[in-house]
Formats: sequence, structure tokens, C-alpha cells
Amino acid sequence: MGHQGLLSKIATNDKHGENSPYFDGWKAYDRNPFHPTKNPQGVIQMGLAENQLCFDLIEEWIRNNSKASICTPEGVHLFRDIANFQDYHGLPQFRKGVANFMSKARGGRVKYDPERILMSGGATGANELIMFCLADPADAFMVPTPYYPAFVRDLGWRTGVQLIPVHCDSSNNFKITREALEEAYREAKQNNINVKGLIITNPSNPLGTTLDKETLKSLVRFINEKNIHLVCDEIYAATAFTTPRFVSISEVMLEMECKKELIHIIYSLSKDMGLPGFRVGIVYSYNDDVVSCGRKMSSFGLVSSQTQHFLASLLSDEDFIDRYLEISKRRLAKRHSFFTKGLETVNIACLPSNSGLFCWMNLRRLLKEKTFEGEMKLWRVIINEVKLNVSPGSSFNCSEPGWFRVCFANMDDETVEVALKRIRAFAGRETNNGKRVELKRWKSINTNKLRLSFNSRRFDENVMSPHHMMSPHSPMPHSPLVRAT
Ligand SMILES: Cc1ncc(COP(=O)(O)O)c(C=O)c1O
Repeated sequence: MGHQGLLSKIATNDKHGENSPYFDGWKAYDRNPFHPTKNPQGVIQMGLAENQLCFDLIEEWIRNNSKASICTPEGVHLFRDIANFQDYHGLPQFRKGVANFMSKARGGRVKYDPERILMSGGATGANELIMFCLADPADAFMVPTPYYPAFVRDLGWRTGVQLIPVHCDSSNNFKITREALEEAYREAKQNNINVKGLIITNPSNPLGTTLDKETLKSLVRFINEKNIHLVCDEIYAATAFTTPRFVSISEVMLEMECKKELIHIIYSLSKDMGLPGFRVGIVYSYNDDVVSCGRKMSSFGLVSSQTQHFLASLLSDEDFIDRYLEISKRRLAKRHSFFTKGLETVNIACLPSNSGLFCWMNLRRLLKEKTFEGEMKLWRVIINEVKLNVSPGSSFNCSEPGWFRVCFANMDDETVEVALKRIRAFAGRETNNGKRVELKRWKSINTNKLRLSFNSRRFDENVMSPHHMMSPHSPMPHSPLVRAT
């Protein structure tokens, strides 16, 4: 690195992960993005965990509530107050609205105290903020595999915290077992690594599954015995669209004795409300000291007061939120069912799932070699020939090759159909006595109804804009520290 010495270690340590080969996929998408009329042969983006199924509901609410914005004739009388507001406690109505929404997103079974809500720039910032509060450089957090690729950056890049994988596999549907936790912990201790905690995503990204109550209880017992922290990233809480229902760590805490001060929740409106551009991230800690120091640290990533003001109205509209959550689940369930049934017709199975904006698709039988190299080869075919940008399991540090995460909620019905047609043709070709035949050109579809959003600069998962190479959530190579363990 030419800049070493001139710039800081963080600026030059390459832990952002942008130099990964996985970027080839995003480059392929960027070079040739699918458009129903202008580029029907293009690459379909299925690497984006966005929830675009309910924008119409929010747009309708905005039309009926123009006073919620300071940029309308009805709301401008509050412009000066809001434009001036910069208190890191946040607008009281905003915190109340978020606490209320968090409760509703968990079926109303738990309540949240607005005084414990800290703001950050998305869950990205919230995850980093909690690390800054709990760990020092070189300390470690355990994280069950497969895990959200950007954890490497969010939890570790600037904080110096390292990740210790807890290996889970398909033999028990990627369950987090006590044995796997103990093994990872023991190995870290043997290497003189100071383990400060365990971080989980529940519902899981990339699995699309939720943790059952017993597993959650066993995790709480584990962290209590070791006296380490438990961070629960619950940003997909309200995407749980079918049974078994989602169980929050907050519910489990009501049912068992535990050291509450070791437990922290990460939340965001990016997935449950489909508002990643609003950059609303939340740390909810049961630890008074973390609330106090985290609040001071939140100065570095406050949610704009304009956004707080708008959301205070939206989130405290009880009827709207109830309706939104119900319809959102229904639409996600429908999309999930349509997609997975479509895959089943060509014998492609996904891990049974009940939540999230994606499926964990098993393509093991299509691997020419059952290795991660084989997985990469298949992935390149899927991108370059099938023209779908999906995410390979290795980018989630999955311990076995052949799994791919496929997002299904960032596009409209017709585009999903095109994607399914392509997968079916591909799987058919691959199973047809293994002979490679030219994939037939994708038939153009009736496009009048199609509506796809193309943001010029999307700061979300697995996308980079042509000019920026900017992709905070892109899959990343395993960090050297992870590999070393
Ligand atoms: C598990 C998990 N945590 C955090 C994030 C980051 O979310 P945000 O857009 O709120 O920063 C994501 C986004 O994909 C995620 O999947």
C-alpha cells in the first residue's frame, strides 16, 4: 500500500473488504443491469437485502399526512425548531415512536423504555457503536456462521475488534449448539484472545430463520457463565412472516434469571420498514453505563432531526403501523412462497425459513467439485451466464460449499418470474446429463406493469455504483484474523 506511513493504520489496513473477488459479481451487475424494457437480458440483482414490497403504504401515509414533514406548507411552521435541533438524546417523540415500533415489531409481547434508545447511522453504525462500548482493539466477539459479511467491517474495521467464527452446519439446520460455542471459546482462550462477547442475528441473515426460545436461553446461560456480552442484531424482527414466530431476546429475559447488563439489542428501520436510506439505527442496551457512554458516542452518527421528526409522526400512528406490519408480513410470505415453490419445481431446495428478505438456497448438487473453488466457479456461471447476482455462501463464512443467498424482496413480481425462469432453465440444463448446452435467450416479458427502482447511489448491501466502488454491505473475504483462528 503506497499510502502506508502517510495515512493512518485504519485508513490503510484494507479491512473494509472492497478488494474482494466477490466484487466481480457487482461489477457484472453494474456493467449490465437488468431492465425490463431497456435491458431484458441484463443481470438481475438478487444480492440486495432490501424490502421494497410496501413502499406504496408509506407513500399513501405521506400523502395523507403532509404536516409530518417540515418541507411542506402544512409542516413548515416547525422548520426552524427542527433545523436547529441537534441534541444527542434525540427528539423525545422520536424515541417514543421507535420504542413503540420495536414493541409492535415483536408482537407487543415486550415493552421498551425510550430512555434506553440510542441513535446511530443505521444498524451499521449501531453495531460499531456497541463494539466501541464493549471491546478494545484486539478483543474478540464470537459470531455463529454463516454470518452477515459486512460484520467484518462494521464490528472490526475501525474498532480493531476481531471476529471468532462459531461453526454451524447444515446437519442440524445451522443450529447454534453449546458445543460449537464452547469449542470456539476454548480455541480463542488457547490463543490468548480476550473474548468479550457473542453477537447473533435473529432472524438470521443469511439463513432467514429465527432462533427458538430454548436456543436463546442456552445462549443467555452461556454468556452469563462466561461473563461476556450478548449482542442481538434483531433488524429483521418484523420480517418474520410465518410460524414459528419470532422470539426476541427481550422476551427470553422476562422468563429467566440473567445478568441483564450483559445484553444489548441492535435495531434499525432499514429492513422492517424498508427505509435503509433514512439511516436509522438503534442500540437498545439493558446496561446503564452503556446507555450513558453510548449516548455520548452517538454524537458521531445522529439521525438527522428532519428524519426523526418525520418518523416520530409515522411510528406513533398506531393504526398505520399495525396495518403496515400485517400487510408487510403477508406480502413477504406470498413472495417467499412463490419463489421457493418455483425453485422446488426444478428440485432446488432452500433451508426451511420463516423470516428475512432472502432464501438460503442449496446448490450443492450442481457443484462440479464439492469445494469452495467449485462454489466460486458455479457462482461465476450464475452471474455471467444465468445473469443473476446471488451471494455465495463463502462470503458469509459458511463452513460448507454449495449454499447461496438469494434476495427476493427488492424487485417486483414480474422480475421474480424472470429470475425463476432463468434458474429453472439453468438447473434443467445442468441436470440434463451434465452436457453444457447454450442457454436460450431469456424471453422478453410483458413489461408494461413493471416498476423497478434504480438508485444511482445505493449504500446498501452488495451494490456499488459505477463511479464509486462504494459498497458498505458487500461480501468480503474472510479477514486474516478469522482465518487464523
Ligand atoms: C444483520 C444485519 N445487520 C446490519 C445491517 C446493516 O443495516 P443498516 O442498513 O441499518 O445499516 C444489515 C444489512 O443488510 C444486516 O443484514
